[in-house]
Amino acid sequence: MNKKHRWTSPSNIAIVKYWGKLPGQLPMNPSLSFTLSSCHTETEVEWNSQPPSGDKRFVFYFDGRERPDFTPKLEQFFRFLDGEMPWLQDCFPIIRSSNTFPHSSGIASSASAMSALALCLVSMERDLFPERFPEELLFWRRSSEMARIGSGSACRSVFPLASLWGKTPSVPEGDDRYGIPFAHRLHPLFHGLRDYIFVVNASGKAVSSSAGHTLMAKHPYREARIAQAHHNLDALVSCLACGDWNEFSRISEEEALSLHALMMSSQPWYLLLEAESLNLLQAIKRLRESAGLPVCFTIDAGPNIHLLFPESCENEVENWIASEWKDYLLPGKLIRDCIGKGPIERS
Ligand code: PMV
Repeated sequence: MNKKHRWTSPSNIAIVKYWGKLPGQLPMNPSLSFTLSSCHTETEVEWNSQPPSGDKRFVFYFDGRERPDFTPKLEQFFRFLDGEMPWLQDCFPIIRSSNTFPHSSGIASSASAMSALALCLVSMERDLFPERFPEELLFWRRSSEMARIGSGSACRSVFPLASLWGKTPSVPEGDDRYGIPFAHRLHPLFHGLRDYIFVVNASGKAVSSSAGHTLMAKHPYREARIAQAHHNLDALVSCLACGDWNEFSRISEEEALSLHALMMSSQPWYLLLEAESLNLLQAIKRLRESAGLPVCFTIDAGPNIHLLFPESCENEVENWIASEWKDYLLPGKLIRDCIGKGPIERS
């Protein structure tokens, strides 16, 4: 055995946020995200039948350099996979990965990294056991499920345009074990969605998302949060189908601010937004209210602000940045991303 698989897989941005998990990396609430385009990871897995060196199970290179600091997270991932993919115990992968994100952008890469790796693993599984994949959808579903084991939100990165993860009465196919494709339920208004990421702070996360998920277990607003996420998901499914931008904006901003409010009201509390993040949020609200532009924001677990808008108002948004937020035209301060087509297999 000596074979390679290579995939690029994108990051995603959630509108209804996954926040809080149950054992087995299952979500406390359903979530829905857009698949991004320029923020992605490229991963190549070379399979060997002999350990690459010593008693190591795998070797991991990032940007061409061996990175033993990633070993504990990957070892944990491979341990979880032992039950799911027993054949992996006879394979000794060499993993080479790199991100397209600008260096130190403060953009979380676990969704793109874990989905790219899961796609390589499931490609190998399909080579070994083609009978397990009689339909294409089963390949994507399995990849999504394996990506989820690595990092919850990664399960939503394997589908074009948008994906839903989690059980919800409004979408009966929704499942806690894997994401499902959602592109066919999107109004054309969202097909050209832009996500401009204002990099307020490029350093890594002060508090990991795993720590944040854990704090939800005993959070005083836990039940209210679960109810809110279900309610917002129902409403989001409807407005994505009919192209209701105003309702979309309302849900997106409520979810983003609720996520950060949950962080601020955990025990111990923590705060990831910075003064500049708040200035941007106020300015986006003003831009919508005074200039009447269809713009809104969302925020991940960090201080950076995602400005969402349909492609039709790209010129107005560019002019606004050039006149009011010039500093973001400096290198590495603004990532102009958009909704994307999902992972690509590289030969
Ligand atoms: O996949 P994780 O464990 O990094 O969690 C991601 C959590 C958020 O990005 C804040 C929300 C989401 O649904 O992506």
